[in-house]
Amino acid sequence: MEVTNVSEYEAIAKQKLPKMAFDYYASGAEDQWTLQENRNAFSRILFRPRILIDVSKIDITTTVLGFKISMPIMIAPTAFQKMAHPEGEYATARAASAAGTIMTLSSWATSSVEEVASTGPGIRFFQLYVYKDRNVVAQLVRRAERAGFKAIALTVDTPILGRREADIKNRFTLPPFLTLKNFEGLDLGKMDKANDSGLASYVSGQIDRTLSWKDVKWLQTITSLPILVKGVLTAEDTRIAIQSGAAGIIVSNHGARQLDYVPATISALEEVVKAAEGRLPVFLDGGVRRGTDVFKALALGASGIFIGRPVVFSLAAEGEAGVRKVLQMLREEFELTMALSGCRSLKEITRDHIVTDWDQPRTHPRTRALL
Ligand code: FNR
Ligand code: LAC
Repeated sequence: MEVTNVSEYEAIAKQKLPKMAFDYYASGAEDQWTLQENRNAFSRILFRPRILIDVSKIDITTTVLGFKISMPIMIAPTAFQKMAHPEGEYATARAASAAGTIMTLSSWATSSVEEVASTGPGIRFFQLYVYKDRNVVAQLVRRAERAGFKAIALTVDTPILGRREADIKNRFTLPPFLTLKNFEGLDLGKMDKANDSGLASYVSGQIDRTLSWKDVKWLQTITSLPILVKGVLTAEDTRIAIQSGAAGIIVSNHGARQLDYVPATISALEEVVKAAEGRLPVFLDGGVRRGTDVFKALALGASGIFIGRPVVFSLAAEGEAGVRKVLQMLREEFELTMALSGCRSLKEITRDHIVTDWDQPRTHPRTRALL
C-alpha cells in the first residue's frame, strides 16, 4: 500500500521489526501521557490563514548556526539505527544530505562519527552524552570535530534513563552483532543484558548524573564547536543557558521518554522563545508528524524543528528511501501549509497565523472550539 503520510510508517515498522526493537523505538516513559500529549497539543492549535496573496513562489530555505539548509526540518539524534535497518545511520546521513538538511548523530549510534562522515558531504551535528569518565568525552568530542561535525547537541534531560516499561518487560538490550560504535575502542561499546532495561543499566553505570551548568562551560573549554542545549522546557533554564554560553536551545522532552507529565514541547515552546528574547535560536522536537506541525512551531517562534521516530520507523520500513520519503513528504506538506496560509517565506510566518488553546477566548472566539 502506498505511504501517503509520515505517521503510516509506524505500523509498517511494527510489522517488520522484532518486538524488542519496535517497543524500544516507540515507547515513552511510564503512563506515556506526554507521548500522547506531544501529538494532541498540536491538534489544539488552529490556523488563521490569510488569503489572496500571490503564493506562486515559496522559499523555505533557512540558516541554522550559519549553515544554509533547504528547509527548517532536521533530523534528531536517535540511538541504535542499525537495529532498524542494516544501513542504519549511513542511510539516514545520505537521506539528510540528499534533502539538503542537517542530521544529528547520536552518541549511541551503531556507526561511528568517522563512518558517518565517510558517507559524503553533509552538515551534521553530534549529540553528546556525558560519561563519568571525562577523558572519554573529550576524546569523542575531538573525534566528532575532526570528522567535520558542526555543532554539539548536549542532551541535558537524561542524568538517569526514564522508566520505559516495555523495555523493562522485554529486558531490552542490543542484538549481539551491534555495538555503541563510538565507544568500541574505549571498551564501552557493549550493553550488558540486565534484569530490567539493559540501556537503563548502561546509563546508570556510565552517565554522569552530577552534570550541571558549569559543565556547559567546561565543554566550551574542550571544543570550539557551538553548543545546543537539548532538553530545555522552561524560561528559567533558557536564561541560564544563555548565561552559560549556549549557541542555541532545543525545546525537547526527549520524545516523551524521560519525565512523564511534562507538557508537550509545542506547549512549552512559547515560554522559552519569550525568555530567549531573540538572543539565540530556539528549536523544537517532539511529535512533529505533519507540515502543519512545522508551521505551528515556526509561528510560535521556533527557528526549525527536528524529527526522531519518523526516521527510525521509515528506516525500518524502506531504509534510505524511507527516510528520504519522510523528509520529502514533510517538505511538501509544509510548503502546502505556507501557500494555504498566505506565507511565501519563513519570515512571513507570524504568531497571528495561528490561534492556540491558551489564547484569550475574547480575542479569538474560535478558541472556544478548542477548550
Ligand atoms: C531518542 N532521543 C534521543 N535523544 C538524544 O539526545 N540521544 C539519543 O541517543 C536519543 N535516542 C533516541 C532513540 C529513540 C528511539 C527515540 C524515539 C528518541 C530523543 C530524540 O532526539 C528526540 O528528542 C525525540 O525523538 C523527538 O520526538 P519524536 O520526533 O520522536 O516524537
Ligand atoms: C533513548 C536514549 C538513547 O531515548 O536517548 O533511548
